[in-house]
Amino acid sequence: MDLQITNLQKYYSGRCVLNIENQRIKKGSFLGIIGPNGAGKSTLVKIIAGLVEAGNGTVSYNGSGLNTAVQQNMTLVFQRPYLLRTTVFNNIAYPLVVRKVKRQEISDRVNSVMESLDIRSLKDQKAWTLSGGETQKVALARAIVINPSLLLLDEPTANIDPGSILVMEENIKKFHEQGNSTVIVVTHNLQQGKRLCDDIAFMHKGEIIESGSADDVFNHPKNILTEKFIAGEILI
Ligand SMILES: Nc1ncnc2c1ncn2[C@@H]1O[C@H](COP(=O)(O)OP(=O)(O)OP(=O)(O)O)[C@@H](O)[C@H]1O
Ligand SMILES: [Mg+2]
Repeated sequence: MDLQITNLQKYYSGRCVLNIENQRIKKGSFLGIIGPNGAGKSTLVKIIAGLVEAGNGTVSYNGSGLNTAVQQNMTLVFQRPYLLRTTVFNNIAYPLVVRKVKRQEISDRVNSVMESLDIRSLKDQKAWTLSGGETQKVALARAIVINPSLLLLDEPTANIDPGSILVMEENIKKFHEQGNSTVIVVTHNLQQGKRLCDDIAFMHKGEIIESGSADDVFNHPKNILTEKFIAGEILI
């Protein structure tokens, strides 16, 4: 999916938390969004997902506004995902059931995604008994099983152990390489940004301060704030 953000602003209680003049996210790109706490990263992906309304401005999807077809073709994995009160299998199957996919195909696709994320043993476990990291893996499985043209991931590996981070990254990469999907990942893990993303946008106080190829932003940042953030300094 091709995204165009134009003059996007969001206010909470009169405070501007998001202010993005112009940002194009091309079809098939893999964009990482980095930036300090409160920079507006989650707000931005929620607006793109249509879950939060922007105050001003627009996001256009393949040149049109948000409609049902667009909505059915994108998915957001939350920073703190919530699952349905049922088994892991049913959680992952749910978006396929909603899209009226045939029963046998649902079973095949769910089993295959569980296999590649190494969560087959959790198949019949109730979602509310999962650990934090297991919950994130199931949420990722539920997102990629529908093969969305836009995948939005908000801190997908925040609670994940180092070995499992690599398994999840491999799955995210494989998903991106398989098709022409656009992937946007918000991450505090700069190494993850380097491993996964082709492009990086650095956000600070609601604005995209700098965006470009991952190599440029990480290795030759143009803005002093980007440089400081990457060096691990606290920004005021
Ligand atoms: N529903 C809301 N009501 C009021 N303020 C909000 C709301 N949602 C977000 N904010 C504020 O908007 C700002 C941006 O929040 P957001 O969650 O987008 O930040 P973030 O970059 O994702 O931060 P983090 O890295 O901590 O997840 C924050 O200052 C936050 O307190
Ligand atoms: Mg956030």
